[in-house]
Amino acid sequence: MSKIETVPAVFRAWSVSWPEYKPVDVTPPELLPEALARQVPGWAEAAATPAHVLDWEQRQTAALVPFQLDAQGWPLHPQGRTGRTGRNLGKWGENAAADPIVVAGTGQDRRLLLITRDDILEEAIPGGMVDPGETAPQTLVRELREETGVDLADHRPVILGKGIVDDWRNTDRAWVASTAALYLLPCPVAAVAGDDAADANWWPFGSLSQLETVLATAGRTLYAAHQPLLQLAADHLAK
Ligand code: RP5
Repeated sequence: MSKIETVPAVFRAWSVSWPEYKPVDVTPPELLPEALARQVPGWAEAAATPAHVLDWEQRQTAALVPFQLDAQGWPLHPQGRTGRTGRNLGKWGENAAADPIVVAGTGQDRRLLLITRDDILEEAIPGGMVDPGETAPQTLVRELREETGVDLADHRPVILGKGIVDDWRNTDRAWVASTAALYLLPCPVAAVAGDDAADANWWPFGSLSQLETVLATAGRTLYAAHQPLLQLAADHLAK
């Protein structure tokens, strides 16, 4: 889904001059300046362009993954050109998310909790965006509860890492970075599809390749951007 592959590797870095670069604007109608002047969706900030954002310094300081501004003061995707511009996310610059990876059981019986996202209909970690004023640990618990009904407020997760997620909505100017955390349970608990989820299921998770095979056999597709996060979990479990 990402258009990153349309940018030749040699031109990926912002430090490499590429005057011909013409990224595709993927801003949806409701986030175009004229629409924002009439009504701002509840999940989005009002700024029509990055020039309307007044707290870049704070955003850079708070970012999970450091990013720079260009000569006109607009944010630059930390990993370079994406082939896409505009905003298809709530905020300009980094959009912080949190992804709870919930694993139950051991050995042959190990299972992983995934939801079917109701927007792209792919199997994904039940994560979501950090709300204003919220910490990542709070987001992990809230999103898991909202999307699957599973309440792990009393559990302490292992933080696996923080990094860019190759989300299909990413552009040069707005992208997702997430805190991935692993919860370990003795056995699966009841999970019910809630907000943003068309389904919620426990899947065999002996390894990432086993998971992908089982999903394919069931006619499901793993959300590709979550593969690296799940690999982190698999590596941690293999220790
Ligand atoms: C993914 O989208 C993140 O890793 C997280 O799981 C999710 C956040 O977006 P929403 O679910 O809030 O749309 O890229």
